[in-house]
Amino acid sequence: MNNVTKTIPEFNSKIKRVIITEDEIKAAVAKVGKEISDGYDGRPILLVSILKGAFVFMADILRAITVPCEVGFMCAKSYYSNSTVSAGAVKITMDLDQDISNYHVIIVEDIVDTGRTLRDVVNLLKARNPLSLRVLTLLDKPSRRKVEFTADISLFTIPDYFVIGYGLDCGEFYRNLPYIAEYNEEKGE
Ligand code: IMP
Repeated sequence: MNNVTKTIPEFNSKIKRVIITEDEIKAAVAKVGKEISDGYDGRPILLVSILKGAFVFMADILRAITVPCEVGFMCAKSYYSNSTVSAGAVKITMDLDQDISNYHVIIVEDIVDTGRTLRDVVNLLKARNPLSLRVLTLLDKPSRRKVEFTADISLFTIPDYFVIGYGLDCGEFYRNLPYIAEYNEEKGE
């Protein structure tokens, strides 16, 4: 085992302000869950969550869907850990373990920032010929885009803030906040 020591941040002072409340998230998730359920055509749906950031959203959207639905997980890394700066390169560190050709696939993502992660994941999954492929994202930061990318369903559009909570992290912390907050990037707090 690696003997790595990690500095735990001064948790609360880094939470600058709540920008999306728990209730707002709940209402938006219920609405989209209903829309997905209403569009069910009898053929299987596969929700593909991009780990780690989307796991909380995935658990909630899954339970807001009222028709048969399966889940799969992929892990894509585009940020250096413990940093708020994009690394620029996307690495798929864990792939799906199933054939997707008989599924309506919905990729479930936490946030579209530069767009690189989803561009790469979409290209990868499209090549596997699913029945259909859609991208559902909790958050969208269009002002940060580096490659052209538009999600099919986006719950909230936000300005260029670094955000934490509801699965989104900074240096692996803050995923457990039940709301989305702006991260306080000021030093010395
Ligand atoms: P993209 O490839 O630049 O679009 O970045 C996608 C990934 O970067 C997301 O899935 C997040 O994990 C991470 N990310 C981007 N913006 C934020 C943020 O504001 N807070 C936390 N993670 C973020």
